[in-house]
Amino acid sequence: MTDAKDARAVFRQRLDSVAADIETLLERLLDGTTLPEERARPRRLMEAMRYVALAGGKRLRPFLVVETAALFKAPRERALMAGAALEFVHCYSLAHDDLPAMDNDDLRRGKPTAHKKYDEATAILAGDGLLTLAFDILARPETHPNPGVRVDLVLALARGSGLGGMVGGQMLDLAAEGRFDGGKVQKLGPTEVKLLQTMKTGALLRFGCLAGAILGEATPAQREAVDRYGTLLGEAFQIADDLLDVEGDAATVGKATGKDAALGKGTFVSILGLEGAKARLKQLVAESEQALAPFGADANILKMAARFVAERKA
Ligand code: IPE
Ligand code: IPE
Ligand code: MG
Ligand code: MG
Ligand code: MG
Repeated sequence: MTDAKDARAVFRQRLDSVAADIETLLERLLDGTTLPEERARPRRLMEAMRYVALAGGKRLRPFLVVETAALFKAPRERALMAGAALEFVHCYSLAHDDLPAMDNDDLRRGKPTAHKKYDEATAILAGDGLLTLAFDILARPETHPNPGVRVDLVLALARGSGLGGMVGGQMLDLAAEGRFDGGKVQKLGPTEVKLLQTMKTGALLRFGCLAGAILGEATPAQREAVDRYGTLLGEAFQIADDLLDVEGDAATVGKATGKDAALGKGTFVSILGLEGAKARLKQLVAESEQALAPFGADANILKMAARFVAERKA
């Protein structure tokens, strides 16, 4: 095997291992047991939340939490808890993103979207339930015994997912499609596309890396390095997603493709063309690897993650 093939196999194994552990944990967090202060877990809602969150997805965000936390020797069980919270926010964002009022998609992770499987109201409430559960998880002593660390995690996830993060980015994304302006598609420049993508997609991936540093009580310099890596990785991730929308097929990607151009979406593919976007992606991967330089070989797995993000086919 060549070195590159070796590295890919190692990465795959580590990603699979986190995916398996996170599946078990999400399953436990979404079982029928009511928690103190909960009155009941309504069956249809529970089922829809499980449908949205279980059995599917690459689980890249929990992987980032686990592997960043490992840089600082933070216990894996705690990283998995923070990773579960992040994955729940991600899954909720997908269920809402697919709604008729948003991207109106029928296929997600190779299965019918939540509103197709259930109905719109149930899909909305399942998303709401997952978002709220994420913060419940971060607030638990099981996630970290130090309440100060837990508050840091809660704050970072709130900032990454809300008004100035993912939700804000989704708003910019729909606005660019001309949803709120008499149907006029906005012609975005690179600075605007970068902001939109940094918010709608980058912010949650960045949180994954930051969470590892927070759990590991990293020094400010270490935290900054990880933050820079997460920011660059987030940018790369959405460019790869936009490339897949053009070059991928729905059967492999597990969701509809060819939609962005049809809607006149602001992406780097639309601004730079396919080759230009690929060059930018390559550059971002190189920069994200450089950001990890302070950690030396300990960060090899995270460097592989950057390459995986760029090369992925689904
Ligand atoms: C898809 O994210 C949505 C974007 C932010 C582009 P992923 O490609 O990580 O989706 P799953 O979790 O693997 O299904
Ligand atoms: C959505 O971006 C990012 C989210 C916050 C869910 P897209 O709309 O491009 O994601 P896909 O292509 O539907 O997964
Ligand atoms: Mg969208
Ligand atoms: Mg979408
Ligand atoms: Mg997309």
